[in-house]
Amino acid sequence: MNASRVADGIFRLSANIGSEILFEGMWLLPHGASMNSYLVKGEQAAIIDGVCDWDGVPETLYAQLDEVGMNVSDIRYVIINHTEPDHTGWLRSFSALTGDFEVLITARGLELAKAFYDLEVPFRVVKSGDSVDLGGGRQLVFEEIPNVHWPDTMVTFEPATGTLFSCDAFGTFGAINGAPYDEQLDEMQLRFFEKEALRYYANIVARFSQPTLAAIAKVRKLPVRIIAPGHGPVWRRNPEFIIDLYERLAGYGKGPAKPKVTLLWGSMYGNTEKTVAPLLEGLAAEGVESAVHQVPQTHIGTILASAWESTGIALAMPTYEYQMFPPMAAVLDELGRKQVRNKLALRVGSFGWSGGAQRELEEIVARQKMHWQFLEPVEFRGAPAAEELELIRRRARELARQVKAAALA
Ligand SMILES: Cc1cc2nc3c(=O)[nH]c(=O)nc-3n(C[C@H](O)[C@H](O)[C@H](O)COP(=O)(O)O)c2cc1C
Ligand SMILES: [Fe+2]
Ligand SMILES: [Fe+2]
Repeated sequence: MNASRVADGIFRLSANIGSEILFEGMWLLPHGASMNSYLVKGEQAAIIDGVCDWDGVPETLYAQLDEVGMNVSDIRYVIINHTEPDHTGWLRSFSALTGDFEVLITARGLELAKAFYDLEVPFRVVKSGDSVDLGGGRQLVFEEIPNVHWPDTMVTFEPATGTLFSCDAFGTFGAINGAPYDEQLDEMQLRFFEKEALRYYANIVARFSQPTLAAIAKVRKLPVRIIAPGHGPVWRRNPEFIIDLYERLAGYGKGPAKPKVTLLWGSMYGNTEKTVAPLLEGLAAEGVESAVHQVPQTHIGTILASAWESTGIALAMPTYEYQMFPPMAAVLDELGRKQVRNKLALRVGSFGWSGGAQRELEEIVARQKMHWQFLEPVEFRGAPAAEELELIRRRARELARQVKAAALA
């Protein structure tokens, strides 16, 4: 990856991480991810956001500074929009190379930076409305957007070019190879990043959907012409694309989403598995899109992305040792933690003697305050009889009808 020019005096420096990394120690990155920093050059230079400290990553950043004719020691300001180590890990290496700089950070960010890094560097606390003048017509204005991922988060705005440095907000997964700007993406690549944005949102940002909507309202008041996020492409042909997408994704936190049903199923001996076909037939009979994921075979990050944009969830799992098939319980718990809320739902499944899956399902949904609205479940003993499969088909069809009525256009 090379440095590239975002706008007059503004450069994107970036490193990709590959699919061997689990992001946050748990999320698969089948297509990698990019970590973007930005250099703003006035009479003085600022670097906005940084990169992680993994092997070679800070060095990639330094090499790109070289490409734009800058030394590490030319940087006067380091702007930390968000203290998470994917953007700040490089600080230790950076401060070992140079001394004469100042770190601009929110008050909450400062607490975190002190807790993470034992660094004797000069910090300056900034708040919404504060700015720093770099000279040469370049100014940076700060706006706090707390709890867009972490409590410390802010965005940085450069008025002369209308560039918003938004860090995690408006980010996407997906490594970037040679085409970091939206105007370089063809239709297929655009759809790719739209999907990577959904997975990034569902895995990383979903829990913070209310603060994200508040942040979008703030951003819409700024004359933004370019969105330069911490992950993914820079949006400068059509910044509205990613703002609108984020607004839509954040809105899904309220429940109604696409007219789509995510079907999650798990089975030990194939009895519950027999319900998958009639469930899908019922959904298809109403023309409702469905996505099917077997549990535990499918990674939770994929399931979350699918569930997040679905208005309906169909669950098929048996009873196991008086409770729910354990990997499904883990999936439901995670959906609860990410606040996949107010969904329309149906549960079916097999049991052998006294059941228990249904009771645990109700416990999880209540404990996680998920407010899912369930149709009457269909439980059966051992293998499902033909009438039970027919009932399941009808109930899936009813779910599909409800989903169509409730889904967003
Ligand atoms: C390890 C194991 C634990 C089970 N625990 C229970 C249980 O606690 N209560 C119950 O009603 N059935 C229990 N069952 C029976 C299953 O729910 C039943 O065999 C069901 O048909 C399995 O569905 P499947 O073929 O979709 O895996 C258990 C079965 C297994 C293999
Ligand atoms: Fe983050
Ligand atoms: Fe990040």
